[in-house]
Amino acid sequence: MSRTPLIVGNWKMFKTIPETTAFCLGLKEDMAGLDGKKVGAAVAPPFTALSAAAQALRGSFISVAAQDVFWAESGAYTGEVSPKMLADAGCRFGISGHSERRQYFHETDDSVNKKAAALIKEGLIPVICLGETLADRQGGSAFAVVERQTREGLKGLAVKDPERLVIAYEPVWAIGTGQTATPNQAQEVQAFIRKLLGEIFSSTMAQGVRILYGGSVKPENIGELMAMNDVDGALVGGASLDVKSFAKIVRGSISR
Ligand code: 13P
Repeated sequence: MSRTPLIVGNWKMFKTIPETTAFCLGLKEDMAGLDGKKVGAAVAPPFTALSAAAQALRGSFISVAAQDVFWAESGAYTGEVSPKMLADAGCRFGISGHSERRQYFHETDDSVNKKAAALIKEGLIPVICLGETLADRQGGSAFAVVERQTREGLKGLAVKDPERLVIAYEPVWAIGTGQTATPNQAQEVQAFIRKLLGEIFSSTMAQGVRILYGGSVKPENIGELMAMNDVDGALVGGASLDVKSFAKIVRGSISR
């Protein structure tokens, strides 16, 4: 089964509304010749700029993703944003469980799971992030950690169409460090995640769900990562902040 490559740019806490609009208009122009059936792309600006991004990208195949979400539909939750509000702002994807959220904002596998379920209920596609820390890897527990995050994060999710779920494997030691996992390291863990998807859901889901790699992805290394069977795209941080660099990564993912 062929899986369409997907590149998501996670901007983290960068870019104002005017900067977002300029980036998205530039990206739309750059990507105009590409076939949206051969590759998927999305940008994930901060909440304040989601709507501006959606507006600027209208008429292109490039989607908008939110970096986070809260699971309640509405209510007295100061500072939070619901899935419905994200859909209203023009989002197609919502990231859940980024390691920075787990590390700085105490997110747990349970909250990641609740957020993913809420996104699905609203018709949005969750991008569920997981990955081991350096201490986990050095202590020999990388696979155990990834298995726990996968099983807990995906528990009970009501999704049957593999295109409606995305997983991002982001080893914490590779994020923002310039130390990309080797293609073989990414492949080894991502094949393992795919095996777990078969056990949790079905073989159709295992074969069809896109598993992205994240952690110091650049135009220079996207090709070798995409050459791996179980790497279906990338979640890109730093290198997604520049239009040319992000566009190169999108193009570089189409090869297979
Ligand atoms: P970098 O690409 O900057 O390493 O960040 C990866 C990441 O956290 C994407 O979500």
